[in-house]
Amino acid sequence: MYPQVFSAAKEVDQAFLIILGFSVFILVAVTLTMLFFMWRYHHTRNPVATDIKGSVWLEILWTALPTIIVLGLFWTGWTSFKAMRTIPEGAMEVQVEGRMWSWMFTYENGKTSPELVVPINTAVKLTLKARDVIHSFYIPAMRVKWDMVPGMETEVWFQSDRVGEFDIFCAEYCGLKHAEMLAVLRVMEPMTFDVWLEETNQADKAGLKLMEEYGCFDCHSLDGSEDVAPTLKGIGGKVRLVILPDGVEEELVADKEYLKQSVLAPGDRLVKDWDDDMPSFAGDISKDDLDAITQFLLGDKHPGEALADEEGCLACHSTTGEDDVGPTFKGLFGETRTVISEEGKTQIVIADEAYLRDSIMNPSAWITDGYDDGMPPYDDIDEKTLEGLIQYLRSMGKESSQ
Ligand code: CUA
Repeated sequence: MYPQVFSAAKEVDQAFLIILGFSVFILVAVTLTMLFFMWRYHHTRNPVATDIKGSVWLEILWTALPTIIVLGLFWTGWTSFKAMRTIPEGAMEVQVEGRMWSWMFTYENGKTSPELVVPINTAVKLTLKARDVIHSFYIPAMRVKWDMVPGMETEVWFQSDRVGEFDIFCAEYCGLKHAEMLAVLRVMEPMTFDVWLEETNQADKAGLKLMEEYGCFDCHSLDGSEDVAPTLKGIGGKVRLVILPDGVEEELVADKEYLKQSVLAPGDRLVKDWDDDMPSFAGDISKDDLDAITQFLLGDKHPGEALADEEGCLACHSTTGEDDVGPTFKGLFGETRTVISEEGKTQIVIADEAYLRDSIMNPSAWITDGYDDGMPPYDDIDEKTLEGLIQYLRSMGKESSQ
């Protein structure tokens, strides 16, 4: 069994052992009694059947006894279930998103991570969400397992009393790479954890300070919550449905230009369903400050990389040139590749825009030689996202990588 590093795990293990113990005891008792009766009442020893009339006391006994046993077993299960379900006040919150076939953990300060990192001896509350199909979040060492159903938000909690690394699995069959839907739980000393948490994904903190000074966070959050205004979490490269001054709706990718425009003339590109409340900062903000802020919001990443991350592409495709479950994105655009059709036909193609579009929307039609047919079709992807991804792939492509 996995080590016991969580207080509630002890109760879970206890319930398991008690139920197992009882089951074994009853199995042995019933089997022995059965064998004894076979021997004792064999027809050679007992040629004439005995006529036994009912016994009230026996009836009461064998009704009451199993009832007590079953209620007792229920009680042990119930107490451990309650311990697992009662989330302590003030627990640290982490959002967990499961998607084919990777995990994404988001912290209260907006930091995202493919690993679940937590401090020791701290209650951690996980909010579970599934992006596409049903997954199940499973940390055996914490005895935590909970289904994730698309459209439904569920919660679990745990607390580790040991520093170390523990496995995280998906425990619900969710497609071809289900078995590879793995992550690591890393439990750290509080100090180390604080340092880790503060290393924001966005390297440029000057922008963050400026945003505080300009009061951006009076209305906008970085953690995904949305009260007065849209959140700025992961804004870079996101597709926004905006309303132009003439009332026309348009989808725009939040790139540098878009973000600048939104600061200088917020009303001109109003994100749908939000009020035109934000004042224009034109004249109040210097060009340098604006640059620093957009730089911060976009991070060092190409806006398309944020998209690729969001869509889960990076779970199987690397950006470094290493081949993963799928071919790497680095140098992919413009490359010549051998592809094999579903019927086994081989063809040599150049990875141009048309090819990439097809590969995203209908990956199974032509598989790159040497890879498995593992990618789910992204046929419901919206046009802007697709364009953003292709732009990104183009930027990583052969010609521009030199
Ligand atoms: Cu996700 Cu199996």
